[in-house]
Amino acid sequence: METLQAIKTRQSVRRYADREVEEEKLLAVLDAARRAPSWANLQCVRFVVVRDAAVRRRISELSYVDSFFAARGYKNNPSQLALAEAPLVIVACALPNQSGDIRGQHYYMTDVGLAAQNLMLAAHDLGLGSVFVSIFDEKALADLLSIPAYISIVGLFPLGYPLHTNSGETPRKTVEETVFFDRWPG
Ligand SMILES: Cc1cc2nc3c(=O)[nH]c(=O)nc-3n(C[C@H](O)[C@H](O)[C@H](O)COP(=O)(O)O)c2cc1C
Repeated sequence: METLQAIKTRQSVRRYADREVEEEKLLAVLDAARRAPSWANLQCVRFVVVRDAAVRRRISELSYVDSFFAARGYKNNPSQLALAEAPLVIVACALPNQSGDIRGQHYYMTDVGLAAQNLMLAAHDLGLGSVFVSIFDEKALADLLSIPAYISIVGLFPLGYPLHTNSGETPRKTVEETVFFDRWPG
């Protein structure tokens, strides 16, 4: 698929068909993710691939809206069931001390974000779907997957064949609303 076409047609996928992801497709998605740019090319991002159905069900349970998220206005996590339904979940982690931390900006989050976009675009290119899931109990998830405390778990990415065909483009603000030339308007 042509790059701009992939960018325009990718959408978050939250329902998955009962179909395995071929090993070569999984590896292609992970390969695209690891090729993303990173702060000073330190490559702080790591991935844990979870295929075990019981573990994925537990991950799904841990992706509920707890009091922390509820206090910040979140009502539910629309991807909670997707984590159990997809045949696998990629857990995107980072080593924060192996990325930039300047002017209050923690660039490991950006590093994971760039890897995430590569991951999701590669999935789409291969006929697969994914979604960035950020609502989860990080401590409980770290315990479940034996992830050490110095690692940050940034996002969960169910991966699989979409149950439904793409509905088109997700609405976006216009170029006029988001792009300013030469100076900030007003
Ligand atoms: C940093 C980040 C965190 C997100 N967290 C969640 C989440 O916890 N649950 C969910 O269902 N979707 C989550 N999303 C997906 C967004 O809701 C989705 O990308 C947005 O609505 C635009 O839709 P599209 O991906 O189909 O273009 C997240 C996306 C980003 C970029």
